[in-house]
Amino acid sequence: MGKNAKISAEESRGMRLIAGPASTYLAEKISEITGVALIKLEHKLFPDGESYIRFPESVQGEDLVVIQGTHPPQDRHLVQAYLIAENALDLGAKTITLISPYLAYARQDKRFREGEAVSILSILRMMKHAGYRKLYTVNLHSPWIVERSPIPLIDLRAERCLASYLKALGLEDLTVVSVGKKGRSMASMVAEDLGVEYATAESRRNESTGRVEVRLEEEVRSRRVVIVDDIISTGGTMVELIKELRRRGVKEVYAACIHALMIGDAEERVFSAGARDIVASDTVPNKFAKYSVAELISEAILREGDGEE
Ligand code: R5P
Repeated sequence: MGKNAKISAEESRGMRLIAGPASTYLAEKISEITGVALIKLEHKLFPDGESYIRFPESVQGEDLVVIQGTHPPQDRHLVQAYLIAENALDLGAKTITLISPYLAYARQDKRFREGEAVSILSILRMMKHAGYRKLYTVNLHSPWIVERSPIPLIDLRAERCLASYLKALGLEDLTVVSVGKKGRSMASMVAEDLGVEYATAESRRNESTGRVEVRLEEEVRSRRVVIVDDIISTGGTMVELIKELRRRGVKEVYAACIHALMIGDAEERVFSAGARDIVASDTVPNKFAKYSVAELISEAILREGDGEE
């Protein structure tokens, strides 16, 4: 099925999108692109913070695709994802698939210290237990987990979405700079699409100070740089890299990511370090969402409709 093609009424028979409380905005866009009908859940929070959800119409015999990010507040969004699946299956839904554009806990992907939880595996088991048959996400922080996942896990990549936004800006004299080992593959994809060079930087969190330290591995000779990272959380990594690039004479630095969590004063810190702008996708609702992953997710859903994957 070609890009942008809507699913036909025949193909979408029995398929419904469910807008989870965390991702209503994205679910609406995806429904518009795919033509798959959307069910908006009724939801609210009780005064003590517990979640309430209700299907306002029958889901009997339907193949449901739930759009529910698990960005902060992660635990609340995870519990909601759990309630949605268990309830849907209890109400007679045929199958249920989860699309979580940002997957929480992916940064705790191993036992860094003895006795720690390998949280991402626990979360994946929890989603399997809820009844999801498959889980889609976007730019998983620990893509190596796909192989070990207890539930079929599909990691969609949004680099091309980011690159096409950057291309439209028409930035000249540009280098793409990546952070960390995984960043290398992200930056190379973006740089290739833009037809520019890329350079890499190593990042490491100093265990005693807790501060991120970065080291550029190649010379950057251009006037402009786009730093590409999967997540901006506290902004610490971006801040250090922006400062380092500015010290080396780079005139304009863009801080680009897929998932903008923007915890605490991250925004202020990134701009104070000298960023020209912050560029993020809409996997997480945020004011820097300048490009969308709705098309990327829609294509995956349309492939589902085709019976692929
Ligand atoms: C690290 O492995 C990630 O790619 C990000 O660089 C990191 O998670 C960003 O976190 P923060 O914004 O808190 O430095």
